Amino acid sequence: MPKITVIGAGNVGATCADVLAHKDLVKEIVLVDIKPGVAEGKALDIWQTSSINSFDTKVVGVTDDYEKTKDSDIVIITSGIPRGPGMSRDDLIKTNAGIVKSVTEKAVAASPDAIIIVVSNPLDVMTYAAQLASEKSNQKVFGQAGILDTGRYNAFVADALGVSPNDVVSMLLGGHGDTMVPLPRLTTVGGVPLDKLMDKETSDAIVQRARVGGGEIVKLLGTSAWYAPGAAAALMAEAVLCDKKKIVPVSIRLDGEYGLKDVYLGLPVVLGKDGIEKVIELDLNDEEIAMLHKSADSVKSVMKVLDDMNLF
Ligand code: NAI
Ligand code: 2OP
Repeated sequence: MPKITVIGAGNVGATCADVLAHKDLVKEIVLVDIKPGVAEGKALDIWQTSSINSFDTKVVGVTDDYEKTKDSDIVIITSGIPRGPGMSRDDLIKTNAGIVKSVTEKAVAASPDAIIIVVSNPLDVMTYAAQLASEKSNQKVFGQAGILDTGRYNAFVADALGVSPNDVVSMLLGGHGDTMVPLPRLTTVGGVPLDKLMDKETSDAIVQRARVGGGEIVKLLGTSAWYAPGAAAALMAEAVLCDKKKIVPVSIRLDGEYGLKDVYLGLPVVLGKDGIEKVIELDLNDEEIAMLHKSADSVKSVMKVLDDMNLF
């Protein structure tokens, strides 16, 4: 029976485990944390909602015990420090790189066939770190950011137009940072191109708000978001477990797409039981390609910081 491990029982990890439990897709979810009692307590709390929320997925918590995570199909990595006020995602690398390396190694030793979904920030570079630590193919190690960022963008578009966010279909590329590339030109609402429904000024303001959407929440809460990030990672796990062939933006290692290589960036992919089953190349215009290259330069500079740490 399928099993999922979620590493890090903080805001994002616990939310992700809770959303996954509600989906009732797997026999067991193992929540792991380094702080004694945190994963155990949150897992117990989630499990005690099972008869209230009508699910059977058993949720258990452990403190740094990877034996209990053995033979997981999917490992979701959320461990690490979050952003505080005035911090960028990139400021987290010094602490989070070591954490992501060590938990990936331990998780892969227990579950050699698992697909790995990374959430820890700086996201694109932590996905790179997990790939190096796991020594798995690029199809099996990828990062969550684009589903969150499109979720934000779709919510802003829906609010501006007074329509359901479920009728907004959008795609967003690039790194999980302020250089991300939302694509209003390719956004539709109920099948109608966005530019037929919204003036450019409003659309530009929404693009900018989505780019800094993480920071907007940090300013309000003093820490980063967790409901949407946790739900986004759960959606990716569901797409893999249920072989949904879902098209979603995911952080992957590029291999020549848009003239970019050996950099981790968000691109639309088909997610199914084998992980990334196909990368979808959109017909971008020159301006969009230039923005994607700028985003790639920004991620590459942080990948270099990781390389210079000589952890691998
Ligand atoms: P949090 O502080 O609430 O939780 C992090 C948890 O990781 C803590 O409980 C901590 O004890 C645990 N941890 C630290 N070292 C560990 C280790 N070696 N093994 C196991 N557990 C360990 O933080 P939050 O808000 O849950 O964020 C987690 C990470 O996710 C941060 O790096 C944050 O920046 C990132 N994030 C990424 C998003 C994305 O879209 N990719 C969105 C939101 C947050
Ligand atoms: C977010 O976008 C900080 O990555 C986190 O909410």
